[in-house]
Amino acid sequence: MKILVVGGGGREHAIIKKLRENLEVREVYALPGNGGISLEAVCKPIGAKELEKIRDFAVSKAVDFAVVAPDDPLVLGCVDILEAAGIPCFGPGKAAAIIEGSKVFAKWLMKKYGIPTASYEVFGSAEEAVKYAESCETFPMVIKADGLALGKGVIIAETKAEALDAIRSIMLDRVFGESGSRVVIEEFLTGPEVTVLSFTDGKTIVPMVSSMDHKRALDGDKGLNTGGMGTIAPNPFYTKEVAQRCMEEIFLPTIRAMNAEGRTFKGCLYFGLMLTEKGPKVIEYNCRFGDPEAQVVLPLLETDLLTIMRAVRDGTLDKVDVRFSSKSACCVIMASGGYPQEYEKGKEITFSDVKDAIIYHAGTKLENGKMLTNGGRVLGITATADSLPEAIKKAYEAVEGVSFEGAHYRRDIGARALQILNQK
Ligand code: AMP
Ligand code: GLY
Repeated sequence: MKILVVGGGGREHAIIKKLRENLEVREVYALPGNGGISLEAVCKPIGAKELEKIRDFAVSKAVDFAVVAPDDPLVLGCVDILEAAGIPCFGPGKAAAIIEGSKVFAKWLMKKYGIPTASYEVFGSAEEAVKYAESCETFPMVIKADGLALGKGVIIAETKAEALDAIRSIMLDRVFGESGSRVVIEEFLTGPEVTVLSFTDGKTIVPMVSSMDHKRALDGDKGLNTGGMGTIAPNPFYTKEVAQRCMEEIFLPTIRAMNAEGRTFKGCLYFGLMLTEKGPKVIEYNCRFGDPEAQVVLPLLETDLLTIMRAVRDGTLDKVDVRFSSKSACCVIMASGGYPQEYEKGKEITFSDVKDAIIYHAGTKLENGKMLTNGGRVLGITATADSLPEAIKKAYEAVEGVSFEGAHYRRDIGARALQILNQK
């Protein structure tokens, strides 16, 4: 089989490595891919948002199946365009990808169908939003740009002054572009966060092993928000009882709500949850695998990924026995110095003894036989083991064997999870 994967980060590398375990998979193409991906797939410099070029490429190579992994092409309708050209795809169509593409839609859906989430208001003008924020007395307050904003469109304002600044920068200065034409202002929730990725064909929903992201740049959850500096799986806060509640109160109601709206979701639906004192609530939906959640969840998947993806596409997920190993996984992201702000590219990466870990490439390029840094998040180093402490130890041992100038990584990935495990 010939497979096309749209995207070029660590998540796509994890998907490709997993798909490659199926011996039927002969050729993999990645658009645009990256340096590490180019060692196991044919990469072409076509951007993930160049939908017509993606379709023409897929048709010219007669690919048998496509996986559209990033948010932008999904929200723009890449799956619809490929399917119309006769190429079966894993991923939601445009009508369903709106669950991530518009926070206003997602909030409206949850309110209409009684799915637990933070209470909120929507504003289409800066004037009204400012008036509302002026009248509020409880802070922090959460302000979210409606559309996609590279994971940066959420501002937690500690004071009224910060809230007013945030509204102005999103709605008037348009720091996130058109995404800021509307904002959602919502209640600040507290509690541990859990990510649950799920496979769904619109009828059956199969949650994957739970995970925990570490979004801030620095140890102790300090510093700026990033795309994610590391992950662990499973998430010790996500007990069997919580899982049961999430299935009944959140997962199934979401799938049914999307069907009722004529927006059947097929693909990987990402639930960003907060476990509050009043029960689990949805912080965000994503219409795709998380990055770097995929880098800990997929290594634990025991069932063939391509079989699952084809069943999701064909509406036969109920026929597949999706199994995960009972091991634990830890992924440590190695980033360029300065990320998530300005950073330099083109630093040579050297690898020594890292045989016990999986190295996922996120922002790299291969030039004259040398692997160079080429992005903010450069590598994701994943280890699996029978227990979480061992997985963390192995991942950090492997990190020691990788180096490039200015490399920055958090030293405390999984530390919070270990505290919880030790209390149990
Ligand atoms: P997102 O980009 O939507 O994942 O949001 C980034 C982070 O902001 C989340 O991981 C949460 O830590 C935080 N956040 C988002 N919404 C809320 C909320 N209503 N209350 C508290 N924290 C939130
Ligand atoms: N790691 C969070 C995300 O993929 O949105």
